[in-house]
Amino acid sequence: MAGFFSKLLGSSATKPMPAPPAGAPRRPEEILQAIEAAAELSTGSALVWIARDASYWAQRTETALARLRADWEQTPEAAKWPDVTSLLDQLSLPPEAVIRQLPAAAREAMALCERDDLPRSRLIDRLSQDPSLVQALLRQANSASYGAGLAPILRVDAAIDRIGLVGTRAVVVAASVDGLLSKPGSPYDALLAAAWQHMVNTGPLARAFAPAFGADGEEAFAIALLHDVGLLIIFDRISTLRSANRRAVTLPDGWLDTLLTELHEPLGAVAAHRWGLGIDAADAIGTHHRRDSPAERHPLAETLFLAEHLARVMARGEPLDLFGLWGEGELTGDQTYAHTLLDRYVQRG
Ligand SMILES: [Fe+2]
Ligand SMILES: [Fe+2]
Repeated sequence: MAGFFSKLLGSSATKPMPAPPAGAPRRPEEILQAIEAAAELSTGSALVWIARDASYWAQRTETALARLRADWEQTPEAAKWPDVTSLLDQLSLPPEAVIRQLPAAAREAMALCERDDLPRSRLIDRLSQDPSLVQALLRQANSASYGAGLAPILRVDAAIDRIGLVGTRAVVVAASVDGLLSKPGSPYDALLAAAWQHMVNTGPLARAFAPAFGADGEEAFAIALLHDVGLLIIFDRISTLRSANRRAVTLPDGWLDTLLTELHEPLGAVAAHRWGLGIDAADAIGTHHRRDSPAERHPLAETLFLAEHLARVMARGEPLDLFGLWGEGELTGDQTYAHTLLDRYVQRG
């Protein structure tokens, strides 16, 4: 299914993504074989992007869970940590049980945005009925990105005019992230809050650097706000376990780190498919650390990789090293342009 953004923007607003060839492989093992074959043929130039479908990400999630379970069962102290097995059981339930649906108001607004014959008055009505969406929309329309030097906007229709439909969609997606926050209890509440703040920080950076990769700024903003949604889903399962057991969940520190690292990308991609965000968004979320096939050219995934690294570095007050990140993520975007965008971003404060 084509993503909402690509449908809305058409080919002129985003750099066209190389389409998978006719009869392109779809099974996970076939996709990985194709990537390896392409790597062998590659003469140092970037590899073409090969789209992965929903079943690929579901299988990647299953495989990661099976590997985590097998490794854990060989751990000598496994019996001392019963919550590990319970959490793996929770995460192994069908996607509809693991991944909560987005709030109804957000889903309805997103569905209205997807209609080719967009009933604008219905979209305005729907958004107007939800105070949190109205508030988020007005905040965005009057933000430094859109409202600098302009008269303040206090109406939903004027806000949509100013930020556009893609911007409106981004606001709806962003408001949905709040609805995915859970209460996993200490010490996980602090980890969840940090993950949420990191996603919020990554959004504006992705918007600023998207042009260096030929990605659309508003699409990048929205997907960046969701890029670590897999972490939120894992913490949501810990919350469920805590409620069911009526006690705090205890997990070995090192094991939780491994679980989060291994699972959050494929699980986030499964969620993106479940929420109808489209293949581009799901692939970007599923590959944002660019670990399996870093040389693949994917404007959104590359934007996320750079933005989320910059968000971390800035949060720690460390110096920025764009050149190093280009090498680490095997990025294919325009590095000189990215430097210009970075200067602009820093100057804007
Ligand atoms: Fe991540
Ligand atoms: Fe991240």
